[in-house]
Amino acid sequence: IRVFVPCDTTARALGADSVARRLEREAAARHEGITLVRNGSRGLFWLEPMVEVETAQGRVAYGPVTPGDVPALLDSGLLEGSISHPLALGLVEEIDYLARQQRLTFARIGVTDPLSIEDYCAHRGFVGLEAALALDPQAIVEQVKASGLRGRGGAAFPTGIKWQTVLDAPADQKYIVCNADEGDSGTFADRLAMECDPYMLIEGMTIAGFAVGATQGYIYLRSEYPLAKEMLDEAIARAEQAGYLGDDIRASGRTFHLEVRLGAGAYICGEETSLLESLEGKRGLVRFKPPLPAIEGLFGRPTVVNNVLSLAAVPFILAEGADAYAHHGMGRSRGTLALQLAGNVKRGGLVELAFGTTLRTLMEAFGGGTLSGKPLRAVQVGGPLGAYLPESQWDLPLDYEAFAAESAVLGHGGVVMFDESVDMAEQARFSMEFCKVESCGKCTPCRIGSTRGVEVIDRIRADDNREANLALLGDLCETMVDGSLCAMGGMTPFPVQSALKHFPSDFQRSANGDR
Ligand code: NAI
Ligand code: SF4
Repeated sequence: IRVFVPCDTTARALGADSVARRLEREAAARHEGITLVRNGSRGLFWLEPMVEVETAQGRVAYGPVTPGDVPALLDSGLLEGSISHPLALGLVEEIDYLARQQRLTFARIGVTDPLSIEDYCAHRGFVGLEAALALDPQAIVEQVKASGLRGRGGAAFPTGIKWQTVLDAPADQKYIVCNADEGDSGTFADRLAMECDPYMLIEGMTIAGFAVGATQGYIYLRSEYPLAKEMLDEAIARAEQAGYLGDDIRASGRTFHLEVRLGAGAYICGEETSLLESLEGKRGLVRFKPPLPAIEGLFGRPTVVNNVLSLAAVPFILAEGADAYAHHGMGRSRGTLALQLAGNVKRGGLVELAFGTTLRTLMEAFGGGTLSGKPLRAVQVGGPLGAYLPESQWDLPLDYEAFAAESAVLGHGGVVMFDESVDMAEQARFSMEFCKVESCGKCTPCRIGSTRGVEVIDRIRADDNREANLALLGDLCETMVDGSLCAMGGMTPFPVQSALKHFPSDFQRSANGDR
């Protein structure tokens, strides 16, 4: 009997290792033969550690399981897939949260053993790579263009056009760089993809290498993800051994090598040019653009810099066809977006959906409202540089253009929810302070502006010359938007201005702190 206990960081943090050990011990004591598989997490985090048991009807899930629950679960027939125990959730594929998703990129996550190549191949792994091997570089790029895939790091630039630029740039050496410096607050989709399905990223990067003529790839991974590093290193070694990576891939004569490099904890190294500086061994300072990295990137060579999820979408596109991907979505936002529900939410986790669903559906039907049970008041979409959205904007469809029209961003899909106890003036201050701490210091509007921004917000909150300081904050935000070199300084005003616009009462505290 195969029993599955997730092995990713979230499930482990919630006690999955102890649950797995207890299951093995208890089953052995009862002379029950079980095969314990450490799968990835399905991303239903409020149910972790979620144990699954294989039955003839499919996998039956139980969660959240503590080690102390194991004996009673076994007594109640867990190994037969019985649903009599209160922690039984029924067939995992029928859990509403999962059944209502459109999982294209995350289809294998939670299903397979992340490091098993056999399991990966049994679930359409490397089908995209085999398809790419039969195509010339331009034909691969055409597939990616036709899929409508846009950069999932946040900027939503068409991936196929980026690849075309690199393909067309003549050079003796080109590179594929994966931006795995997932720094946005509330985001974890890159980590989940790397820990739970590392071959998908390896496959996507290898296809990108074939498409543009790059023979070397680097995954720039944040050092805060040690398990992802472990999984990727091991997966790279196994893929090399199995002939899916390295020299003469699948006896095709094509070469692609891959290495993981660790960042050192700076948020700004998620910006592509400072990432490249860091990868070259220098301090993470933002570079001027142009030249674009696609023309002069790593070590001055043409470089594709793509987010984990952009590259992870590629195997599906090559395996199932561009149309199968483009079929999902709305307008110019094609395919699916990996949304990450976090903050004050009852059912936090990963929700992969075709573009077009509303924010309200996401927060209510999936998230189940706030964890505190108090009314939801604001939501920040797109990381610490994303706008705060009040209830009047929750019916916005999740679509790049619809969000842009409201001066908001989808970013990397982070959705952080706040209940009515939130102080939006404090959140605005936090945005400025975040920029002050994380600014690379290269340009004045961001380096000095963020420091002054914190001071001005403090004066407004202390009711010190309020009107003049509000006007000053408005001017400062405008200067940062117009004059900053990169998105760090250029977007920090979005959360500040949205908080001011939609939650003005929070900035009108009296001296004793009342609103
Ligand atoms: P950008 O709009 O300057 O560029 C987008 C991408 O397209 C870049 O890779 C750029 O090199 C490329 N590009 C532009 N024109 C091109 C052309 N003609 N040919 C080939 N490539 C071309 O945006 P930027 O500054 O790279 O990113 C800003 C975004 O990053 C923001 O929208 C924000 O949402 C997101 N972000 C994501 C974070 C995360 O943790 N994932 C953290 C902070 C910000
Ligand atoms: Fe550096 Fe900030 Fe200027 Fe970006 S906006 S280049 S982070 S100082």
